[in-house]
Amino acid sequence: MTTKAQAVIDWVDERFPLTSSIKGHLTEYYAPKNFNFWYFFGSLALLVLVIQIVTGIFLVMHYKPDASLNAAGVPVAFASVEYIMRDVPGGWLIRYMHSTGASAFFIVVYLHMFRGLLYGSYRKPRELIWIFGTLIFLALMAEAFMGYLLPWGQMSFWGAQVIVNLFSAIPVIGPDLSVVIRGDFVVSDATLNRFFSFHVIAVPLILIGLVAAHIVALHEVGSNNPDGVEIKKKKGADGHPLDGIPFHPYYTVKDIVGVVGFLIVFSFIVF
Ligand code: HEM
Repeated sequence: MTTKAQAVIDWVDERFPLTSSIKGHLTEYYAPKNFNFWYFFGSLALLVLVIQIVTGIFLVMHYKPDASLNAAGVPVAFASVEYIMRDVPGGWLIRYMHSTGASAFFIVVYLHMFRGLLYGSYRKPRELIWIFGTLIFLALMAEAFMGYLLPWGQMSFWGAQVIVNLFSAIPVIGPDLSVVIRGDFVVSDATLNRFFSFHVIAVPLILIGLVAAHIVALHEVGSNNPDGVEIKKKKGADGHPLDGIPFHPYYTVKDIVGVVGFLIVFSFIVF
């Protein structure tokens, strides 16, 4: 590195833990050496989260959450989705990446959770990682449900009708709660607007915060592995776990294999 670039990094390091965070959480983070393919799905969930956020940002540039009818008698929200599909350059690709990405998210997260059950990764000392995970899963279901209403088609409308009515089955508070969720007595423009607000900002913020907490908790206790070896218990003279290897280059390279495999399947479905 040039001395000038190093000087800038040194300046930042004196004021912010940049190099130490990159080393501690990424390049020199020690992970068990016996990860198998089940350990792909955490990094794949991160990848899909990024795909959803980036494609979502571009969709919002043309989507309109409005249930009123345009001059042709078509709801503005529905027409804006048709506009994205037909007239916005590459809009069809962005939308299909986002809708296929939503399904891929669940497949990836289910496999990720299955790995946790398989290897007992929910047990001491990883209970909080699992608890943050279950909260992520709940937020993800809410996020997908509210996104499904936005195209304002028949499936969106009746999907919202059924799921919001499930909440009205809760004893005592149910009927009032379902009115609060809808913002109206029927699924209407008010529902579309609040679901849009929750889908594009409130729930994504919660998701990102929970994912950050999930990874901080993981790095506090360290990863489990297929053999259940607690690598932090046996350290060498250099202070590094004897059964561990630095995340970079070993797992950055391994995770790229997972990413390539995932993108092949994902592209096949999208196209
Ligand atoms: C947006 C969703 C999620 C993201 C981005 C995410 C991310 C990650 C990452 C990057 C890791 C480390 C790599 C790995 O072990 O695969 C991890 C570990 C873990 N995650 Fe998640 N996760 C998500 C959802 C969940 C859910 C829903 C659960 C369970 C309810 C969960 C439970 C766990 C557990 C138990 C570990 C530690 C596994 C071990 O060390 O064996 N995660 N997560």
